[in-house]
Amino acid sequence: MQTLVTILGTRPEILKLWPLVDGLDRVTHHVLVHSGQHYSYDMDARFFDELGFRRPDIALDIGSASHGDQLSRLLSRVEPVLLARRPAAVLVQGDTNTTLGGALCAAKLGIPVVHLEAGGRSFDRRMPEEVNRVVVDHVATTWLAADEQAVANLDAEGIRGPSVHLVGSTAIDAVDRARTRLGASDIVGRLGLAPGRYLVVTAHRAGNTATDVLPGLLEALASLADTWPLVWPVHPRTAAAIEAQGLTMPARIRTLPPLGYLDTLALVADAAALLTDSGGLQEEAAVLGTPTLILRDETEWTYLLGYGGHQLIGATPASVAAGAARWLEPSALRAMRARPAPVRRGAADRAVEVIAALMR
Ligand code: UD1
Repeated sequence: MQTLVTILGTRPEILKLWPLVDGLDRVTHHVLVHSGQHYSYDMDARFFDELGFRRPDIALDIGSASHGDQLSRLLSRVEPVLLARRPAAVLVQGDTNTTLGGALCAAKLGIPVVHLEAGGRSFDRRMPEEVNRVVVDHVATTWLAADEQAVANLDAEGIRGPSVHLVGSTAIDAVDRARTRLGASDIVGRLGLAPGRYLVVTAHRAGNTATDVLPGLLEALASLADTWPLVWPVHPRTAAAIEAQGLTMPARIRTLPPLGYLDTLALVADAAALLTDSGGLQEEAAVLGTPTLILRDETEWTYLLGYGGHQLIGATPASVAAGAARWLEPSALRAMRARPAPVRRGAADRAVEVIAALMR
């Protein structure tokens, strides 16, 4: 059996690789490497515990740092692992600094790179994730795309042929797997929330935590909290930005620490609507049927824009107010909820099949 090294390191990578790991363990000699980009219990170990995800074989402990420093630590710590293990391929997922470091290191050593979630594009190079995705796709040798748009994006950059596979998004499989266990979460009752009568917010993107956007976003959300109970599990990056910018979280907003996966899904499932800039949550809400207002001007998940349940509303006070006025009306919410999202199931199985064939 040939060796496959999978490199992960952040919350979204853990969640989106979870549905593949058992399959990969069966068809490859599978070495799981954790970069340590996310390291606190809330952002990392909790997910392994909760999901029954097996522990990584190797931990690199790169921790938090500037992007340059994070990348240099990744390169210098991944390289000896790849030299020692001599894998037939390296698998990376998504668009984080861990994804970039793992892919670049493998490519430099001439090791084939499989990129899960290839071809996603926001076309905004100010996003660190966009730079990461573009570079990773251009050093990868096998591309596992989530939707037709991603395949078209790759094609437009000259990446095409039999090594591009449309497999779907494994975030969908992850929700399906977890869904039967949502009853184990009592978060809605514990917080004293009435199902269907509250909003959930998450925001952590570099663009939305910047000094020219975050104050306005807080102001916009505070106004919304005048009419809706509004709960916000706050990402450490956002908490740090609020403090560094001398801002105060409006008292009407109910903040929570970062939540586990089941609590997150249960909270979103019962919300009237979700307001988010997270890529993963956009897909999770689609499976759960929760209307979603995206706090951005564009999204990589264009397949969710056409059906009506997901709307781009931006992150300025005026755009959030306009989005809320239009979409948080009872009739609009009912119409959004009534539309089934065009989600494609079975991505994890298809991805494992492609990797198994590659390793034969
Ligand atoms: C990273 C990804 C982003 C993904 C997000 C999900 C990149 C460029 N971005 O962003 O695409 O959506 O993860 O969470 O890789 N921190 C903690 N505990 C942790 C990890 C981080 O407190 O376990 C704090 C640190 O203060 C750190 C900050 O959060 O400086 C940001 O962490 P970092 O890993 O650099 O990026 P994220 O913003 O989490």
